[in-house]
Amino acid sequence: MSILFESKNRIFKLDTQDTTYVIQINPYNRICHLYYGAKISEFENLFQIYNFKNFSTPPSTTGELNSVSHDQLMQEYSGANTGDFRSTAIAIQTTNGAYAADYRYTSYKITNDTPSLTSLPCAFRADNPEVQTLEIHSIDPSTQTECILYYTVFPECNTIVRSVKLKNNGLKPVIIQKIFSAQLDLPDHHYDFINFFGSWGRERHPDRTPLHHGSQNVASLRGSSSHQNNPAIILAQPTTTETRGDAYGFVLAYSSNFIANVECDQSNSSRVLLGINPEMFAWNLTPGEEFETPQAFLTFSNQGLGQMSRNFHDFMRNHWISPRWSAVERPILINNWEATTFHFDAEKILNIAKSAAKLGIEMFVLDDGWFGHRDDDKSSLGDWFVYSKKISDMGKLVEQINALGLKFGLWFEPEMISEDSELYKTHPDWVLEIPGRKRSICRTQYMLDMSREDVIEYLFNSMAALLKNINIEYVKWDMNRNLTEVFSKILPANQQGEIFHRNVLGVYQLYSRLLQELPDLLIEGCASGGGRFDAGILRYSPQIWCSDDSDAIERLEIQGGTSFFYPPSSMGAHVSACPNHQTFRKCPFQTRGDVAFAGTFGYELDPGILSEDEQNQIKQQIKNYHQYHDLVANGDYFRLTNIFEHPNLEAWQFVRKDKSESIATVILRRNHPAHSPFILKLQGLNPKTLYAITTPSETIKLYGDTLMNAGIVLYDLPTYDHASLVLLLKKCK
Ligand code: GLA
Repeated sequence: MSILFESKNRIFKLDTQDTTYVIQINPYNRICHLYYGAKISEFENLFQIYNFKNFSTPPSTTGELNSVSHDQLMQEYSGANTGDFRSTAIAIQTTNGAYAADYRYTSYKITNDTPSLTSLPCAFRADNPEVQTLEIHSIDPSTQTECILYYTVFPECNTIVRSVKLKNNGLKPVIIQKIFSAQLDLPDHHYDFINFFGSWGRERHPDRTPLHHGSQNVASLRGSSSHQNNPAIILAQPTTTETRGDAYGFVLAYSSNFIANVECDQSNSSRVLLGINPEMFAWNLTPGEEFETPQAFLTFSNQGLGQMSRNFHDFMRNHWISPRWSAVERPILINNWEATTFHFDAEKILNIAKSAAKLGIEMFVLDDGWFGHRDDDKSSLGDWFVYSKKISDMGKLVEQINALGLKFGLWFEPEMISEDSELYKTHPDWVLEIPGRKRSICRTQYMLDMSREDVIEYLFNSMAALLKNINIEYVKWDMNRNLTEVFSKILPANQQGEIFHRNVLGVYQLYSRLLQELPDLLIEGCASGGGRFDAGILRYSPQIWCSDDSDAIERLEIQGGTSFFYPPSSMGAHVSACPNHQTFRKCPFQTRGDVAFAGTFGYELDPGILSEDEQNQIKQQIKNYHQYHDLVANGDYFRLTNIFEHPNLEAWQFVRKDKSESIATVILRRNHPAHSPFILKLQGLNPKTLYAITTPSETIKLYGDTLMNAGIVLYDLPTYDHASLVLLLKKCK
């Protein structure tokens, strides 16, 4: 059993393989947090841990002892304006304007299933009999609203998934002013706050700073999870490394405005809150209605950041990413964007496809510019019909590409509208804008009001018409601007605080409807590169374009940062032209391939204009991809160097789950004269197993413990800037 209940002290104990989470209902029916961390075997006596006494006069409501301070209790989900003066998880406004919330325990339920959310992405059980869910029910007596906390335990990947449902069982409407997905109170504050920040072309760079008193957070108010901050954070001890020390990981499965806040208080304890950003949010809940929050994933590792990441990778691969694709080999694609931008016709496309087919590439993706009358980024978004000047017959083109042995994929940007479009002529009212205010334009485009059913209906019908009638097996779903002037013309004034959230629900609904209709469709998420790389999108898109910056050296940080939470098999990574279009850097072809190999592999160039040597390298890369796909997609991933230090030598490793095979990749950023020998210590191997290590020049044999403790000297790493080296390890028979 993963979840136990001890009725005398009213304690819930949630166990995963290596972690324990403990909740206690106190005598006043407050839902208190007792412990989260490495596994503990104790059960009966757990009520004694963290039995804090107050040192200040606490506010307490009638009936509660003066020794119980709401302000100092570690709680699971604390309410507002009733004596917990820290940031709290939920706040409700009643019809008289009062702003408060005080939920007290009423009952619990343990089920052998996962909760199914009606409008948001949710985790699945995958037939694992150990997966269990705890529901804790509580009531705020004055509003008669019921708050249900969900904890689903995924033991084999040390992950607990949390979410919250609020039901209005009362007779009057209430307004939800904030409702977080998860709160975690920790008794101390000796942690570093680790977050992943960036911008366009520079997504998910790591940041590590010590917690300080007061609040620290990352957030988005852009209507997408954003390039700037990812909805995922880590709290790690200052001494935690990739292989040692405590690390708590938090991921929010949400693709719109979020906040991940950590507050360190007067008692030196820390409170983590993760969920929908309360700014510009207010949700009306009328009697009988329910509101559900996005899910948040929590994990803990006392084996460092590496194990924390592997917990999340396993969880997402086994219980989150669609089983249709998660472990499945994805087609090696070639995308024409960097090769042609908007300047192509059917002949040019067919020529690229022909040269790609000769090299063994498996899918052609036609990017932006195929619809409406789109010759640049100034028109046609919303007009999802073929631009006949460029492509007279899309069906025929796809047949020709299929005849070459290639699958076919197509780019869409469903959430957008151009003023210069047929759609705008018929539906100018579908634009997200505030009457009486100037609307902001970005990349010459506006955002559709995705909270409207008629908009979703139109998009579904126009996309499905193409996808069902032509053999399109893949969609690149782009989103190239953030939301501004968020206002829906069909909802009343008191519901305008719902629009950000309703928009993302519309996006999820469109994804779901298309996938229900076309279950074999492979969708790759994208948002000006990696501006919406989050677990919400990952539930529908098993792969997301990591960044428009396809430069292999820039990708070290971008893919390395992304790997803290998301599995490599979810990261769109392509070999692109040289000099690179974003950085103008020249990188060896092999290095570009070796870096892209740590993601969902593909190409973003015109192979027809490459040298013979480069074309041969493509053939070899494709062979390698097929040979090692399973190891990369389904193996364990290890960061071998400390990404926070921007190491000159960056390395990572994939190890097959049975530890029989491994690949390690090393990149030299800059070559320095008279450098000391490059030594690489491997990870994740079986210490007692003898491995054959193959480098470009030799095969040597060493035991796992030697490779992990003493390491191996990288004689074969070429000594020039941006060089790369791959080591192949195989267990000796
Ligand atoms: C975004 C994407 C690119 C490409 C262009 C097309 O920037 O990230 O990969 O699809 O749009 O306009």
